Amino acid sequence: MLVTKQPVLRRFWYAVMPMTKLDAGPQPFTLLGEDIVLWKKADGTPAAVRDRCCHRTAKLSRGFVDGDNLACGYHGWQYDCTGACVKIPQQPGLAIPPGARVPAYHCAERFGYAWVALDDPLMPLLEAQEEKLGHRRIHQFDETWQTGALRLMENSFDTAHFAFVHAGTFGQGDQPKPKHFALDETDYGFEARVVLEINNPPDSHRITGTTDPVTTRTFSNQWHLPFLRKLGLAYPSGIRHTIYTCATPVDDGRIQVIQWLYRNDTEEDCPAALLNDWDTRVVLEDKCVLDGGVDPDAPVDVSRRDEAGMASDRPGMLMRKRLLALLKDHGEHEVHGWTRIHPVQEDATC
Ligand code: FES
Ligand code: CO
Repeated sequence: MLVTKQPVLRRFWYAVMPMTKLDAGPQPFTLLGEDIVLWKKADGTPAAVRDRCCHRTAKLSRGFVDGDNLACGYHGWQYDCTGACVKIPQQPGLAIPPGARVPAYHCAERFGYAWVALDDPLMPLLEAQEEKLGHRRIHQFDETWQTGALRLMENSFDTAHFAFVHAGTFGQGDQPKPKHFALDETDYGFEARVVLEINNPPDSHRITGTTDPVTTRTFSNQWHLPFLRKLGLAYPSGIRHTIYTCATPVDDGRIQVIQWLYRNDTEEDCPAALLNDWDTRVVLEDKCVLDGGVDPDAPVDVSRRDEAGMASDRPGMLMRKRLLALLKDHGEHEVHGWTRIHPVQEDATC
């Protein structure tokens, strides 16, 4: 599926960057192939419009913020958050021409990130129960990978790769399948409940509350249409550890991996740096497979796919079924045919 060719995907909210990035001024981002610019208004809330001035096409992300408005750096035209040009400095006494505007997008802050929906959202912005419970929030990742959004999503529910890809961290080489696996379809996507034995991290006592080298864990792993997962771990010690991972589609060959974590303990109990070090090791293992290493164009119409399967692929197959149904419900056909635009960067850490 080429995400930039499926208009219904424009109708979802995506996390695009940490709000703190906007402190440095307007920032560019590419979402579903569309070049956008975000900035922070005077009240601290974010706004997003197309990153192309309607005067002489200059990138507005190279401009500056003036109060609530975004100013173009070329001739100083200013835009408000609706995309309307509200100031032409060279013509102070004249009316602004009616066509002087740029497309504006839905934009809001949530969980410390700026979220954008390019077209009218089909559903409200995500809520996180952990915020209401007062769990601390830890920023983990904000980086670009050369892969498809569905590839990262199906990987996040694929228990068959742990013994191989994660043999250097939590995976057990002699356990290629979990002890228990159940999948329940929901309105938002599905929930997978998984029980498996895993190797604990070196500082396990602080991270999990146990000193045992291996423990049996129960995961609740939710997939939220189209490209977000929520992984909940409940340790026997009472520690709750909840990870949100967004595969925000940049274009047909790239995603922005945005991940944050909630914990019900304190920084003193377990420093964020320790948690991030361990998760960085784990995510780097996935990155070495997915970033430039698989075809980003994952088919959702399985009758057309050229990929073989096995039983543990069920979550990925269910994602494909639900995404195909989403396309059909909105009168769309799946569009295929990805061609590489960006050269693959070989990562020396893999
Ligand atoms: Fe933006 Fe002229 S190109 S003001
Ligand atoms: Co993995």
